[in-house]
Amino acid sequence: MHLPVTSPEAAVSPSGERPTPTTTPLGAGTVETVAADEAVVLDLPPLRLGNLTIDVPVVLAPMAGVTNKAFRRLCREHGGGLYVTEMVTARALVERREKSLQIVHHDADETPRSVQIYGVDAVNVGKAVRMVVEEAIADHIDLNFGCPVPKVTKRGGGSALPWKTDLFQAIVSTAVREADRGDVPVTIKTRMGIDDDHLTYLEAGRIARDAGVAAMTLHGRTLEQHYSGTADWSAIARLREELPDMAILGNGDIWSAEDAVRMVEQTGVDGVVIGRGCQGRPWLFGDLQAAFDGRRDRARPGLRAVAATIYRHAQLLAEQNNDEAQGLREIRKHVAWYFKGYPVGGEMRASLAAVETLDQLEELLSRLDLDQPYPGAAVEGPRGRAGNPKKAALPDRWLEDRLIHDDQRLGLVDAELDVSGG
Ligand SMILES: Cc1cc2nc3c(=O)[nH]c(=O)nc-3n(C[C@H](O)[C@H](O)[C@H](O)COP(=O)(O)O)c2cc1C
Repeated sequence: MHLPVTSPEAAVSPSGERPTPTTTPLGAGTVETVAADEAVVLDLPPLRLGNLTIDVPVVLAPMAGVTNKAFRRLCREHGGGLYVTEMVTARALVERREKSLQIVHHDADETPRSVQIYGVDAVNVGKAVRMVVEEAIADHIDLNFGCPVPKVTKRGGGSALPWKTDLFQAIVSTAVREADRGDVPVTIKTRMGIDDDHLTYLEAGRIARDAGVAAMTLHGRTLEQHYSGTADWSAIARLREELPDMAILGNGDIWSAEDAVRMVEQTGVDGVVIGRGCQGRPWLFGDLQAAFDGRRDRARPGLRAVAATIYRHAQLLAEQNNDEAQGLREIRKHVAWYFKGYPVGGEMRASLAAVETLDQLEELLSRLDLDQPYPGAAVEGPRGRAGNPKKAALPDRWLEDRLIHDDQRLGLVDAELDVSGG
């Protein structure tokens, strides 16, 4: 028995029409659409990153453990944009660790190929960028300076790093210099700073622009905020205003195409970057493309389409890992996101969380009342990681001045170990 699945060939057409999925004998996995109340018309030009042109100025935010090849494919099938890998640490990539090489691998039809690198020193980041360029691993490189994980920031890495302007400048300019050899554009992604009293984004933006960075993504939160509260879009507007000569991408709390349009209108950014809003909703990229094309159709999938997508996502994860059991382990967290707001009972959710094979998954999904329609508001709005603010964990005397000291540089070595995400 096979659930309906969307075929890999079902990429969005250049005219922006929704993909037409092929189906298996069980019926259609088509994502239903409705017309939004008002047509939003945005006159935003394609996003230019060096020699790259991204027709739909929408970026899938890098998310460790989420934005792997399988998930990027599902998202790409719904709309245009730039789809960034999970982050890879510079050192692990240079050491050619298997997991890192897997992270930066793209499907043959993925274009442009984008990778995100995280590193804490110019030498390793430079080597990693050189490797990406010389081995033609990607067409675009993003550098991650936004990670808020305490074990990273307490050593001076992640979103603590831009505070040290000399270190930040060295990393960014080395990356750009190495990438320039292959004409590969480099972008950076940061938070606003450490806390409200120690903002770093404007200075980071100026340093990045002067180093030749092609665009900067600003997540409108500080390190201290982690994922709590709401993103401050006014900071994004401020950055846009301060740096008219560099592309700025806005990030934080875009949950719908309408939010994306509001962000562009309120801040003047050149494009938007979407993270948690697409967890369990790869079709959001269809809505985003529609909004940016001035069309009103919005995805409103019923349970059948969601179940079909879960199954297909699991299939892709199994393929990507060349290991069905691993694929099934990885799909579990996505299942919770996919079913957010849908009438799926606790017992079924628990069974799905323990599923070990594709056949079991298919059997469980087919027991659902697949004719349930889109539930509305329960599916929309914030989802994924949230939580409370936490005092920033930083190395001793980190905030005393803006230059990196030798003892702090030594501590940084461990800020690249065991990192997983921003
Ligand atoms: C599970 C998860 C993993 C993440 N991993 C990364 C990462 O690897 N690199 C990065 O720059 N940001 C990472 N982020 C941050 C997101 O890219 C994004 O900046 C953040 O979620 C805010 O955007 P949103 O409100 O659209 O989710 C991660 C976020 C989440 C929720």
